[in-house]
Amino acid sequence: MGKTKQNQILVIDSDSERAQKMLHQLEFVDYEAKAISSPSLLDGYPGLTDKLAIIIGNCPGILDHVAKIRADMAQCPPFILVTGKAPLDMTPEQVENTFLGCITADTRFSDLSNVLHRAEVESGVVREEPVVSDTSKPQSKASQSPELFRSLVGNSRATTRVRKMIEQVAPTEATVLVLGESGTGKEVVARNIHYYSKRRSKPFVPINCGAIPSELLESELFGHEKGSFTGAIGARQGRFELAQGGTIFLDEIGDMPLSMQVKLLRVIQERSFERVGSNKTIKSDVRIVAATHRNLESHIKEGKFREDLYYRLNVFPVEMPRLRDRVEDLPLLINELITRLEHEKNASVRLTPAAVMALCNYSWPGNVRELANLMERMTILHPHGLVDVKDLPAKIVPDRQSVPDQTMVTDVEDNENMAGMPSLPMLSEPRLPRDGIDLKQHLTDIEVSLIEQALDDCNGVVAHAAKKLQIRRTTLVEKMRKYQIQRPSEEAAAS
Ligand SMILES: Nc1ncnc2c1ncn2[C@@H]1O[C@H](COP(=O)(O)OP(=O)(O)O)[C@@H](O)[C@H]1O
Ligand SMILES: [Mg+2]
Repeated sequence: MGKTKQNQILVIDSDSERAQKMLHQLEFVDYEAKAISSPSLLDGYPGLTDKLAIIIGNCPGILDHVAKIRADMAQCPPFILVTGKAPLDMTPEQVENTFLGCITADTRFSDLSNVLHRAEVESGVVREEPVVSDTSKPQSKASQSPELFRSLVGNSRATTRVRKMIEQVAPTEATVLVLGESGTGKEVVARNIHYYSKRRSKPFVPINCGAIPSELLESELFGHEKGSFTGAIGARQGRFELAQGGTIFLDEIGDMPLSMQVKLLRVIQERSFERVGSNKTIKSDVRIVAATHRNLESHIKEGKFREDLYYRLNVFPVEMPRLRDRVEDLPLLINELITRLEHEKNASVRLTPAAVMALCNYSWPGNVRELANLMERMTILHPHGLVDVKDLPAKIVPDRQSVPDQTMVTDVEDNENMAGMPSLPMLSEPRLPRDGIDLKQHLTDIEVSLIEQALDDCNGVVAHAAKKLQIRRTTLVEKMRKYQIQRPSEEAAAS
């Protein structure tokens, strides 16, 4: 995460279309990539040793090219091969010995991330395993499953903003309070904060404060000594001790009893605690990330939550938007959830564009969790099948009987590829209103909106916005004049 030198990638490909596709995908997963058309341009290429990897398109004599680059450079980043239609003129062993991995231009998100993760491991940017544990069990190598690390998927503005916040706060020691409805991804955020922090190699210990009976919560959090209460047969470490050096995730903090809130406040203030039944003070080096779906401010008014604790926790609030307020995330989320099912349950399913569109019109009271459950249900009902509107539950599409069958119009392959992932154009497939439309005005509106978004994203830097829109800078300036679009900074200055 972040635009550090560790996320720079160089793409070498004479096939410009394939190179563009790759750049697009890399940018999408937050890497900073540049492309050159030929290995011969590498001579004197600036900052080559800082690259995380070189992604190179298959071309005649590729082994010689790579060997030459390696010979010229003392410290050469690993090579990743992009295959295409042309046959490979090398043996599998040669591929394995020369390249870190092999992908196609239409590679799936998970394959691309896997090979980039290997590059990160190779260059020492990250450790072999994202160490994120999920239970109260003591940390053993076996309990540290990379599966438990989920990146925050989504390309809506809201989700992008949250990712930015994570990036900013993760490296600090700040306490973070994640707010939002159930199933919006609060735990995903907490795990990401841990993962991108200096504490990554230490434990991530979640505890659901609402699910543990209040009389057991103290011992759960701080541990207890033998015989300290009825049933305390042996001494036991609490979650704070287990999280030493790492991060504790206090989930559903809004449900923590007031008596415990006082004790938590003390840990935050004094950075120490005692096990139940012990007077030995234990120093605590644990970062706190808390979350709740409750409105803590009204809880405070009702006397259910301590105001002083609230201010201690609310150093850096992150608000997770409801899924219905960011339906642009749906295509990517669906892809991500299906990929997970493929990896974990060996189950799969595809959706027609019409089905995806129907999902966009649903209110998602259970947010992403509800979507995940639906995808799992669909893989069970339609294993490896294509789900259309009529196959969706009536709760989601109340009038599904009247929807025409769309199964024929999809390119199933396309859904599978990452290039097909940002399927927004498909999603918002315009519907011609019954009374017709002012086409010219409509197109202008779309154009203006996209230009404004591009300028917004690029902080008003016209050259960057033009690049994003794949038009010339002068063309963009012309259009801005024509539509009287101001750069965001000008607007700010004017007001
Ligand atoms: N942005 C996201 N990208 C990928 N998966 C997500 C995202 N948001 C939520 N999920 C998935 O949805 C489910 C619910 O997320 P979780 O973090 O437990 O929600 P919350 O803690 O807010 O109730 C989990 O399976 C999680 O992996
Ligand atoms: Mg949760």
